Amino acid sequence: MSEDRVKLYRGLREVYIDRTNSSFINGKEGKLYYRGYNIDDLAVNCSFEEVIYLIMKGALPTLKQLDQFVSELRSNMTIPEPVLDIIKTIKNAHPMDVLRTAISALSAFDDDVNDNSAEATLRKGTRLTAQAPTIVTAHARIRDGLEPITPDPELSLAANFLYMLFGEKPDPRDVALIDKDFVLHAEHGLNASSFGARVAASTQADLHCAVTTGVAVLKGPSHGGAAESVMTMSQEIGSVDNAEKYVKDTLSSGGRIMGFGHRVYKAVDPRSLHLQDDLKELGERKGEPKWYSILQSVVEVMKPYSRKGINQNVDFFSGAMYFLLNIPEDLFISIFAIGRVPGWTAQVLEQFENNILLRPRLKYVGDLDREFIKIEDR
Ligand SMILES: CC(C)(COP(=O)(O)OP(=O)(O)OC[C@H]1O[C@@H](n2cnc3c(N)ncnc32)[C@H](O)[C@@H]1OP(=O)(O)O)[C@@H](O)C(=O)NCCC(=O)NCCS
Repeated sequence: MSEDRVKLYRGLREVYIDRTNSSFINGKEGKLYYRGYNIDDLAVNCSFEEVIYLIMKGALPTLKQLDQFVSELRSNMTIPEPVLDIIKTIKNAHPMDVLRTAISALSAFDDDVNDNSAEATLRKGTRLTAQAPTIVTAHARIRDGLEPITPDPELSLAANFLYMLFGEKPDPRDVALIDKDFVLHAEHGLNASSFGARVAASTQADLHCAVTTGVAVLKGPSHGGAAESVMTMSQEIGSVDNAEKYVKDTLSSGGRIMGFGHRVYKAVDPRSLHLQDDLKELGERKGEPKWYSILQSVVEVMKPYSRKGINQNVDFFSGAMYFLLNIPEDLFISIFAIGRVPGWTAQVLEQFENNILLRPRLKYVGDLDREFIKIEDR
């Protein structure tokens, strides 16, 4: 076909590039499945560790398998001293930049780095999943002039995240919220960061390269960065009475309501419903129900947009939940990233299993055969 007649798929909207067993989004009905299991069942019944096993290995673990897997995760949570030194050196960077750099640096300390076999990739994915909370929390403390806290092998990843962040044994109710949040973020079709990770894997680059790419791509506000923006919006709205005016002013000036809209979901993102319930419970427990009420008022005002497929997504309620847990706002995306490491790993494994170089084309619309003039004559 001649270049001028090619069809463009800008944004790769609705383009299917391969098959997957990892997750399925039914955007029309607002359903999400990990490895065939409905997220609604997993969110209320499974720990993050159980879901990591499911996503990375393809089946739910038995009690014995989970036990062994939890031990493997917990024994891999520490990060080498030189990586801590790198974090100290770049402590003033955004937490996502620090996470990306530290994951990249961890490759220098991983014996499996150049081994792209499924077994080695799984081992590396397990290690990176275990190390991500340690990186994020170590950085958060270092930049505040505090000593990083060594992970506690008796605690889950979610409990360790809060423990290493605040330095105190966390409230089990807070742990349950973070645990579920990690579950809800663990895997999600060919989102932009997973696509980025797959592109890296398709060149036969290793898992550290792919996860580093995933973190880089996740950082943007159209992807992982929306939770922080939603919290900023809630603060700007300030009270329920102001929600309608704020939303209408934003939309009429061509702005977007953060935490709304999704490339695949045209119904409400099912993950947001779990987070909505969690935020309500947390807000009441902390004596700050106002954030939930403000966000619900935004949902009300946005109701007419639901017909156009613009509904609340996973980021809409999570920001306020993290805020009520006293988590600094610039760490919000990093929480998403911690949860997503298993998903990136699973998709890299799939890419390796039936690899094809991901290399689409661009339609050239520039000039041709321009007259070349030597630099001294220009
Ligand atoms: C997520 C997102 C990037 C998906 O975008 P997309 O699939 O490329 O869809 P588009 O950007 O083409 O938007 C399609 C239409 O919906 C509108 N729209 C999409 N999201 C909107 C939002 N949050 N607020 C208001 N309008 C929105 C667009 O203005 C556009 O309208 P138009 O066709 O009249 O121009 C987009 O919905 C968005 O920017 N949301 C806010 C950021 C966010 O919450 N990101 C987290 C995603 S999990």
